Amino acid sequence: MTDRYLLVGNPIEHSLSPIIHQAFAEQLGHELVYTKQLVRLDGFVECVREFREAKGRGMNITLPFKLEAFKIAEQCSDLARHAQAVNTLSFEAQCCWGHNTDGLGLINDLHHRHGVELAGSKILILGAGGATQGVLGPLLAQHPSRLVVANRSAAKATALVAKFADHAAAMGVSIYACGLDSVDENPAIILNATSIGVDDQDSLDHLFARVPVRDAFCYDMSYGDIARFKKWSERRGAAQSVDGLGMLVEQAAEAFAIWRDVRPQTETILAKLRSQSGHH
Ligand code: ATR
Repeated sequence: MTDRYLLVGNPIEHSLSPIIHQAFAEQLGHELVYTKQLVRLDGFVECVREFREAKGRGMNITLPFKLEAFKIAEQCSDLARHAQAVNTLSFEAQCCWGHNTDGLGLINDLHHRHGVELAGSKILILGAGGATQGVLGPLLAQHPSRLVVANRSAAKATALVAKFADHAAAMGVSIYACGLDSVDENPAIILNATSIGVDDQDSLDHLFARVPVRDAFCYDMSYGDIARFKKWSERRGAAQSVDGLGMLVEQAAEAFAIWRDVRPQTETILAKLRSQSGHH
């Protein structure tokens, strides 16, 4: 039987993951089927059970089910445990494994593709939700000198930073939390992990007025039309502004490698997606 994989989320219609995984499979001559399924907000657990019973091999999980996926995984990788969130499930003979490939996807794109030096650098992350929680562990493992989490609600940033305090200390990283209006120092790297989307009418000039983007490397974990931070930081004099399409492709390659023991090349599909979308 052909190996089957499934992406679940809500919403899901614009996801590029099926195209990416099918391209990886073609590149490596693997035969597999990767589809996506919109799942009701209360239907995640049942969907996983059904897919597993039907001998599905693995799943990708996107918003808003990553925390639930963490809870139902029977064993978890260290990265998933740090993130307390799972974006990749692998169904093995007796066990349902949970992984999180978002952080490695980000590091691969930032460091390996764009050549950004993370070790010893000052990093500012905007946002303190699930997206930030998913990447803090892998970022700390790169040994930046200082990592600041700034959020509209400063209390939420403080709570998230508290969860990672021990990990940061073990890595020798100074970690801080603050509000978006009280970012104090000039970071070399700024990551947008907020979920401000196209429909959000908040002006970024107002929201990020105190965020020192000039001459920083600015990375937007969003891509496509909602990559508003990328465009905004470009206009505000960032040294470089990049969207998160590369991170999407890299996290997919990590998931593929977990399931199929071989890591696909990512450049060709990334170039193809960029030329199709017109986002460079
Ligand atoms: P995700 O899993 O995508 O991170 P989330 O957990 O809901 O989603 O977190 C969304 C993040 O984006 C939060 O940090 C949120 O800030 P608050 O904690 O203050 O709500 C941030 N965010 C979303 N919309 C925003 C907006 N219009 N302005 C500023 N921050 C926003």
